[in-house]
Amino acid sequence: MKNIVILVSGSGTNLQRIIDTIDSGEIQNAKVSLVVADRECYGLERAKNHNIKTALIPRGKNFSSELGKIIPENTDLIVLAGFLSILKPEFVESWAGKIINIHPALLPKYGGKGMWGHHVHNAVIEAKEKESGATVHFVTVGIDEGEAILQKSFEVTESDTPETLAEKVHKIEYEIFPIAINKVLGNN
Ligand code: GRF
Repeated sequence: MKNIVILVSGSGTNLQRIIDTIDSGEIQNAKVSLVVADRECYGLERAKNHNIKTALIPRGKNFSSELGKIIPENTDLIVLAGFLSILKPEFVESWAGKIINIHPALLPKYGGKGMWGHHVHNAVIEAKEKESGATVHFVTVGIDEGEAILQKSFEVTESDTPETLAEKVHKIEYEIFPIAINKVLGNN
C-alpha cells in the first residue's frame, strides 16, 4: 500500500478526484494518509468528510520546515493539488522525485511565479493561443520547471473565455491526474 500526502490551498476538486479514484480502484494500491493546507480552505473539509487526517500550517517562511516535521516517514508520494505556496529548496531536495504538481497549462508555457488559476487562462486568451491543457510534473526547486509526467491539450476556440477555459482545463486535470499518479507509483 503506497502512502500519499496531499497539499491543498483551495476548493480541492483535484483532491476529491484523487480520493474518489482511490476509492473506485482507478488509482491502485494507495491511500491518502494526510492532507495539509496552508490556509483555511474547502479542501480540508473534503478530507475530513473522508476521515482523512488533516493539518493546517499557515503559509509563510516556516511552512516547509513545519511540513517536514509532520510528513510521515513512510510517505511514497507528495501531491500538490491546487497548492499555492512555494516549497523551500531544502524540502524539495529532501523529497526529490516524490513530489508532483498539477498545473493548468501546457508547461513549459504559462508557468512560473504568479501563473496560477485565472492568471494562466487570461494569459492564454490574451496570447490567442490555439490550444491549452494541463500538465502533471515533478516538483523541483524552480517553479513549474520539473519534468512533465503527463500532459493533455485541447483546442482553444474563438468563443473561449478565461472562465470556459478554466472549465475545460479542470476536466482534463481530473482525467490525467489519476493516470499520472498510477504511473509515478509504478502501478500498471
Ligand atoms: C487547479 O486548476 C490546479 O491546476 C491548480 O489549482 C487549481 C486547484 O483547483 N494548481 P482545486 O483546488 O483542485 O479545485
